[in-house]
Amino acid sequence: MRISVVGCGYLGAVHAACMATLGHDVVGVDVDAGRVADLAAGRAPFYEPGLPELLAEAVAGGHLTFTTDVAAAAGADAHFLCVGTPQRADSYAADLTYVDAAFGALLPHVRPGSVVAGKSTVPVGTAAGLAAALADVEPSATLVWNPEFLREGFAVKDTLHPDRLVYGVPGGTAGQRAVETLDEVYARPIAEGTPRLVTDRPTAELVKVAANSFLATKISFINAMAELCEVAGGDVTQLADAIGLDERIGRRFLNAGLGFGGGCLPKDIRAFMARAEELHADPAVSFLREVDSINLRRRERMVDLTVGVLDGRPLAGARIAVLGAAFKPDSDDVRDSPALDVAARLQARSARVVVTDPQALANARLKEPHLQYAATVEEAVDGVDAVLVLTEWREYRELDPGKLFGLVAAPRVVDGRNALDPQAWRDAGWTYRALGRQ
Ligand SMILES: NC(=O)c1ccc[n+]([C@@H]2O[C@H](COP(=O)([O-])OP(=O)(O)OC[C@H]3O[C@@H](n4cnc5c(N)ncnc54)[C@H](O)[C@@H]3O)[C@@H](O)[C@H]2O)c1
Repeated sequence: MRISVVGCGYLGAVHAACMATLGHDVVGVDVDAGRVADLAAGRAPFYEPGLPELLAEAVAGGHLTFTTDVAAAAGADAHFLCVGTPQRADSYAADLTYVDAAFGALLPHVRPGSVVAGKSTVPVGTAAGLAAALADVEPSATLVWNPEFLREGFAVKDTLHPDRLVYGVPGGTAGQRAVETLDEVYARPIAEGTPRLVTDRPTAELVKVAANSFLATKISFINAMAELCEVAGGDVTQLADAIGLDERIGRRFLNAGLGFGGGCLPKDIRAFMARAEELHADPAVSFLREVDSINLRRRERMVDLTVGVLDGRPLAGARIAVLGAAFKPDSDDVRDSPALDVAARLQARSARVVVTDPQALANARLKEPHLQYAATVEEAVDGVDAVLVLTEWREYRELDPGKLFGLVAAPRVVDGRNALDPQAWRDAGWTYRALGRQ
């Protein structure tokens, strides 16, 4: 099939490369000329495991091109809208200016009978508005919502082998034809047995925000339990293991720590609250305000733990190594990164903070230019008064506490992700502290 992907960021670039890998002819469109130049040369403009190989192969094979000219999308059987929907600067609501601009630019190039599939995460009701605009210009084309569930760090696998596909389509023959088109696009994952759910458009839009709200709630639930463990003398990791063995609960997403961040969960739960308010249904999701508060409280608690571990030495002037800048491991994404936020809070209280990260240093420097950065763990921890592990990269989980011992000024570690083995660090002579345990 001929496919266009409009917006080639963390979602769109992966989608474009994977669609080409599935055998389609794909053009990726983005307004960022630098990003397009990288992608057109087969280079991934951000860190995502497996993406560089797919891109290089698909671009070299001639099945994948990138351009800033949206006219190149003309003639495609299916268009995927993948532009960003960040939080508005002045409220909790989603900023839809990128969706509106991209859709408006695409409209003149939509051919009769084709499908325009929204993948961006949007407030419920957005698809209805776009569908009306499409009907005015090209009545035989169909607007569908096909939310995306990929996880950064696993984006290639999640796109090639998704755990489900959701198509939000209109009723009638237009909807049926759109389902057939999408089934052809996703023929390979469907043949592998991927469940495919066909819904109306509002349900499809809601599926995505409901899923993210549930995940955020699960994380904040265990972090609320961590708060209680801290004051009551419990251990939240043992608590999570114990409740997680109940199949109805499950252990995944029950890792207590510094909480969630990134370009999705925080802004998605806020946009959900804002949209619910517009629909006069705010009580239905008012609990998300608490989910958000619990999440943000962890960051200040991390600062308190750091003050505590210094054992009387003032935070002002203390040298602190922060391991991790990305919002989660296996990504270079620093959008709403809890790790960077804690680093900035510590620096605001006059600590001398050095941040390191295996992949996210360039993005971190752009976002927090006033922090000091180091290329390696060894450089970052050199002579520090405390080490903070704030993103659970594998290489940090596997650090050898014995080797680091000789590099620091004082062997104090605060494990913001419950990612280290407390016994191993204590045995090596370190003072170990963590969120949610003693
Ligand atoms: N990143 C994820 O893990 C993920 C997962 C699922 C869903 N989503 C959703 O997907 C959407 C995109 O997220 P992202 O993380 O890829 O954002 P991103 O900021 O990485 O990418 C957005 C891209 O759109 C481009 N763009 C902006 N305006 C454009 C226009 N008019 N025409 C063409 N391109 C334009 C930008 O230059 C940028 O490259 C969001 O709604 C997000 O919530 C993201």
